[in-house]
Amino acid sequence: METYKPKLVCFSCNFGWGYLSDAETLSAATLNWIPVACSGKIDTSHILKAFRAGADGVLILGCPEGHCHFQDGNYQTRKKVFLIQKVLDAFGIEPERLTMDLAIDPEGKKIPLLVGQMRNNLLKLGPVKQV
Ligand code: FES
Repeated sequence: METYKPKLVCFSCNFGWGYLSDAETLSAATLNWIPVACSGKIDTSHILKAFRAGADGVLILGCPEGHCHFQDGNYQTRKKVFLIQKVLDAFGIEPERLTMDLAIDPEGKKIPLLVGQMRNNLLKLGPVKQV
């Protein structure tokens, strides 16, 4: 029997997360890591596309409130996350498969930790049930 390995996509804002890190090392440690100019640049369609492509979970890392370089990109994305979680729930998909963390971590040390935590949570949930 094949062991279940959750697929996770991690979007992170370049201004708050990992800009002092070695991108190749961090990318190898996190897999499916997508740095973006601002969490506000993550569109609803990007998140849904990740799930449609087989992701079991999506993690979004943005700057803390009041620290977004584009005024309120993090706040806008937090609203999108809230609404998409409601849609996932309506389709019987656990809303915690989509999470967002707002903080600053220039060296990106927390990124692999947060990805690991979310992978563990996804392991408990199992694969996404097809609707
Ligand atoms: Fe980091 Fe907008 S610049 S979330």
